[in-house]
Amino acid sequence: MKKFLVAILAVATLASFTGCAKSGSASTGSSTSTGSSEKIGVAMPTKSLQRWNEDGTNMKAQLEGKGYKVDLQYAENDVNTQVSQIENMITAGDKVLVVAAIDGSALTDALQKAADAGIKVIAYDRLIMNTPNVDYYATFDNFKVGVIQGQYVESKLGLKDGKGPFNMEIFGGSPDDNNAKVFNAGEMSVLKPYIDNGKLVVKSGQVDFDKVAISGWKSEAAQARMDNIITANYANGTKLDVVLSPNDSLAIGVVASLKSAGYGTADKQFPVLTGQDCDKPNVSALKNDQQSMDVFKDTRTLASKVVEMVSAIVSGKEAPVNDTKTYNNGSKVVPSFLCDPVSVTKDNYKQILIDSGYYKEADIQ
Ligand code: BGC
Repeated sequence: MKKFLVAILAVATLASFTGCAKSGSASTGSSTSTGSSEKIGVAMPTKSLQRWNEDGTNMKAQLEGKGYKVDLQYAENDVNTQVSQIENMITAGDKVLVVAAIDGSALTDALQKAADAGIKVIAYDRLIMNTPNVDYYATFDNFKVGVIQGQYVESKLGLKDGKGPFNMEIFGGSPDDNNAKVFNAGEMSVLKPYIDNGKLVVKSGQVDFDKVAISGWKSEAAQARMDNIITANYANGTKLDVVLSPNDSLAIGVVASLKSAGYGTADKQFPVLTGQDCDKPNVSALKNDQQSMDVFKDTRTLASKVVEMVSAIVSGKEAPVNDTKTYNNGSKVVPSFLCDPVSVTKDNYKQILIDSGYYKEADIQ
């Protein structure tokens, strides 16, 4: 296990040196048209989380900037809806499919149809599992996301200096999303040694991924689980020091639970709380000291990388990748491009999110 993690870490570190160059503030990418009028299918999971709206908008704008037609679909987290959207894209003759899967293992049949029709497929952000019919993967360095979250907790609590013990509760993402396991592995590569030596104590006893995973990344389910954990372990005044949340939708549920349990007062402060995506409500939570850190994944950068991939595929070339080892989908290692995630706190969110034009000051309450 240790060897495995060291191996992933080595690859993750290597990837971070070769990670995406920032695409600057241009949210629509280059406006130089290639004159291609091919149609590109973009299948996104849901509009209910802000990040996927940003992804879809950036993908559409940047592809149209290159002269492509774009068929952008959202499936409201319903697997069957996503499958039929992909089948419609194939029937409509889309040239390349860009797919952020809802359930990474549910697209085998649909992607066989794409392969039979000679359509290339790029897995977007989430790896598509158990099929040879995924040609490329464009994402952020998911292991590194977890490492950034783990290192924040490590340094905020002074764990390296031997401080502790602290009480921590752990949340995990949706088990049908490969990313969720990779985020967890990154977090645990930093924090597991402190659980093992007793400096981090998980009162609920729920540590393993399958015990902490929240299906569908649902805020309400995270809130309900946090409610139960507080009632069973912290209602007697025991201090909760850290909640490790892999993303922002779960952090929102955790904050709601903490608030209803009376946290957020001078004598009952919010615990350290992690997140990922920099969704607007969560950046507001950073500003208001309810969430401690976030991980920014600049969807403009990911979109511009995917547009480069699409252009290469359409002109019959190999697409750019910077990792050919890490992402085995159970059928093959999918050639990947990993972009760099960035740590965000109350102290730097203005510089990273507002000065770069990602959000306006007024977006953050
Ligand atoms: C993405 C995260 C997102 C989560 C829930 C993951 O696959 O990488 O950015 O928070 O899905 O939508």
